[in-house]
Amino acid sequence: MATHTITLIPGDGIGPEVTDAVLRIVEASGVSVTWERHDAGVVTFQRTGRALPLELLESIKRNRVALKGPVTTPIAEGFTSVNVGLRKALDLFANLRPVWNLPGVPARYSNVDLVIVRENTEDLYAGLEHQVIPGVVESLKIITERASTRIAQFAFAHARRHGRKKVTAIHKANIMKLSDGLFLECARAVAREHADIKYDEKIVDATCMHLVMNPSQFDVLVMPNLYGDIVSDLCAGLVGGLGVVGSANLGTEAAVFEAVHGSAPDIAGKGLANPTALLLSAVLMLRHLGEEPAADRVMSGLGTVLTEGTQTTKDLGGTASTQGFADAVCRAVEA
Ligand code: NAI
Repeated sequence: MATHTITLIPGDGIGPEVTDAVLRIVEASGVSVTWERHDAGVVTFQRTGRALPLELLESIKRNRVALKGPVTTPIAEGFTSVNVGLRKALDLFANLRPVWNLPGVPARYSNVDLVIVRENTEDLYAGLEHQVIPGVVESLKIITERASTRIAQFAFAHARRHGRKKVTAIHKANIMKLSDGLFLECARAVAREHADIKYDEKIVDATCMHLVMNPSQFDVLVMPNLYGDIVSDLCAGLVGGLGVVGSANLGTEAAVFEAVHGSAPDIAGKGLANPTALLLSAVLMLRHLGEEPAADRVMSGLGTVLTEGTQTTKDLGGTASTQGFADAVCRAVEA
């Protein structure tokens, strides 16, 4: 059996707890992995002055695949986001966030099956901010033809590969006529090359309302960075919360798999975190590596435990700890 070498970033907050749980479940699936562990964020910043160490970037470039726990970003001060830095440094231009109901997970809706494709490298996340004069700050929203076309192509290619029927471009081009206007222009041009896949457009605020009222009308949604960040959390809320949505950051040279959620400092170290979101990201990773049978085994074991419902974490109404839940999934995967 081939051994995969994968970069592992445990992260901080609940990161180490959920990555530990997920590593055990991946091992139970029978896949052989050598993990190259690297810290990032506040831990390395205090030690070395770098939140995103060069050895970490080198490791991902070499291995081309990483599994990442959440990393805290200081608010309104301190180092720039490790997450944004990683996506930019490795040109992980597409953030893929499949949102669907898991068996046994209590949720507002039971018929959600959509995919968010978020542009990952520009928009207001370019981090280009400055003070014009005291009391006035400018933050630049960068939208380019190259990145917008590339993400639209990714969304249509994903739709085609997975038999999806419709791509919706999300925007605010009624107000940001030039920037979101360019995004739409690019999406329309790509849509014309894929006439068999339905294409439509929705303004981001109306999209939020429609998602809350009737999420089943959506299929693949493609959008600039900031809207993608916000809409993803909204969608997580439709299917049971941030504990149950995985994601992949994909580029042409590397892929980094991580949960949608953050480091959850309010529950860190208490054994309350649900590792399902990172596990779903690891399943995306296993499929990316061609380990389909192992991915299926994990999904089946996870489904068994969630459906039984006696060993789930607190966010899903259960009483199990992070590791107790992981033990149950390991047993179900190995059964
Ligand atoms: P958060 O996602 O960490 O937490 C929001 C709420 O969801 C909290 O009540 C938390 O307890 C709950 N939650 C999150 N994950 C959970 C899980 N696995 N199981 C059970 N409950 C869970 O968002 P917040 O508090 O806004 O961000 C905290 C830090 O994380 C910030 O520094 C932020 O910048 C960072 N962050 C990092 C991300 C990454 O590394 N990719 C993504 C999002 C935020």
